[in-house]
Amino acid sequence: MKEIDELNEVVKEADEELHKVNDLNDLQQKKAIYLGKKGPIARIMAGMKSLTDEAKRELGMASNKVKDLLENMFEKKKSDLEEAIVNQKLVNETIDVTLPGVQFPAGGIHPLYQTVMELEDLYIGMGYKVAEGPEIETDEYCFEKLNLPKGHPARDMQDTFYINPELLLRSQTSPVQVRTMLESKGEPIKIICPGKVYRRDSDDATHSHQFMQCEGLVLGSDITMADLKGALLEMARKMFDKDREIRLRPSFFPFTEPSVEVDVSCGMCGGKGCPTCKGTGWIEILGAGMVNDNVLRMSGYDPEKIQGYAFGIGVERIAMLKHRIDDIRNFYTNDIRFLNQFKEEK
Ligand code: PHE
Repeated sequence: MKEIDELNEVVKEADEELHKVNDLNDLQQKKAIYLGKKGPIARIMAGMKSLTDEAKRELGMASNKVKDLLENMFEKKKSDLEEAIVNQKLVNETIDVTLPGVQFPAGGIHPLYQTVMELEDLYIGMGYKVAEGPEIETDEYCFEKLNLPKGHPARDMQDTFYINPELLLRSQTSPVQVRTMLESKGEPIKIICPGKVYRRDSDDATHSHQFMQCEGLVLGSDITMADLKGALLEMARKMFDKDREIRLRPSFFPFTEPSVEVDVSCGMCGGKGCPTCKGTGWIEILGAGMVNDNVLRMSGYDPEKIQGYAFGIGVERIAMLKHRIDDIRNFYTNDIRFLNQFKEEK
């Protein structure tokens, strides 16, 4: 029967076509052509009407067989293609574990933070605790409770970034003292508070609108200026070298009375006088003093029973002297060549 020959012809043709197919989309399209309603099998079957019943049955059976056969051929090709895709993926994803690895450069600790860590270690060793406070402060804690009422001329010394009349970026770490005193309710205190502070300064080699301080506060009975001097001399000798001397000069801070400015002997010339110390043999490193009675009273302390000292170290100042850095901006411009010099060796 010619229809059966035609069906066999379709199988042969489909087989040849299948050999050329090499992706799943293509396969899907070919399958739709061969087995679809408008495909060759459907067309052959459509011409069946004129045949005898016997021939119809025979052709019907033959066409079902061919359909099954084609289905199987397409199914087989599909699984072959899928397997090939998986194999290709496996080949592509093979990892050569013998290749050298990629080295990610490790970061280091910023020189300023290294200085803070050294200060913390040193003061913790002397029995101090580390306290922290917010960088956005209230005018009350940053000034009022430190004996700087509104309109006080010393407020100009700390030209401040105000957010609104009550809130500001702290211009000193001293408000952390106020917070600690209020929390401690008249009890003795021995803390340092390192942190960032902000002032409306034009940036140059020695000024930055953002810098770091490390404030200290010690309150107890019978604490004197001699204790303050001891704590500062110890700091100077541990941070620089064991032969350093310190010098206290009278000064003024609204929150301390008496107040001093503290110099350390110049490490460049050993105190003889050189350009670094402007010929004086001394370099100023911090402000300090005995806590003013008003400050004590405002935060709930009775100056008759408890007194003490406070100091405010300029962290950049210490780091610059220690590492002989001549421009404060180096700390904040993130030049990797600068920062890499402070990386600890592994
Ligand atoms: N807070 C002062 C300043 O920023 C420094 C200081 C702290 C002075 C504590 C005395 C006592 O200038």
